[in-house]
Amino acid sequence: RGFHATVLTLYPEMFPGHLGLSLAGRALERGDAVIDPVNIRDFATGKHRNVDDTPAGGGAGMVLRADVLARAIDAVSPEDDTRPRLLMSPRGAPLTQSRVRELASGPGAVIVCGRFEGVDQRVIETRNLEEVSIGDYVLSGGEPAALTLLDAVIRVLPGVMGNAQSGTHESFETGLLEHPHYTRPQSFEGREIPQVLTSGNHQAIEAWRQAQSRALTRERRPELLEDDQLEK
Ligand code: ADE
Repeated sequence: RGFHATVLTLYPEMFPGHLGLSLAGRALERGDAVIDPVNIRDFATGKHRNVDDTPAGGGAGMVLRADVLARAIDAVSPEDDTRPRLLMSPRGAPLTQSRVRELASGPGAVIVCGRFEGVDQRVIETRNLEEVSIGDYVLSGGEPAALTLLDAVIRVLPGVMGNAQSGTHESFETGLLEHPHYTRPQSFEGREIPQVLTSGNHQAIEAWRQAQSRALTRERRPELLEDDQLEK
């Protein structure tokens, strides 16, 4: 039952982190989602329990050893585990809301958090790791990226969002950026709520919001409009 994430990390104490609070926290309490952090170092051998080593061919930084990581993956995810195996990495395919929804509709995920300069390529290939990036910037480790992915997945799980409707109107579900929002007070530092929003005319309100969404998207994210028929 529910979404089961196993997170392989050298910093298991970073989980569930902020996800233990608010919306995702209640899903975890109810058991709609489970996050199991597993320490990769538990699968290291030898006196020093080394998990990393210098890169073959030379260069800066350290690489996560294939043998240690493979043992960790095999221990938490046997051959018949149907969950996708993700590797958080800036080299990965950019995470999208549609991939988030696919993950949320499945049984869970095994998430590997990279550290150092990377992980040995052979374990990526033999353990079928799908590299996933949360954006074009470099974090010092995959843990905040895994927390971000889990936040996005957990909030769209069935029954987690307060109002079932509140998901489908938002950015990346509609393909447009969201229109501006307003609430009380009616007057704030001399600035009023746009009149149409207090008119009670729901058709006019919907038209205004659509126009605002399109204008904002054209300004900030024109590439999102490229295959939007109505724009042409
Ligand atoms: N690890 C380091 N940077 C990352 C990024 N941008 N996305 C996912 N994992 C990462």
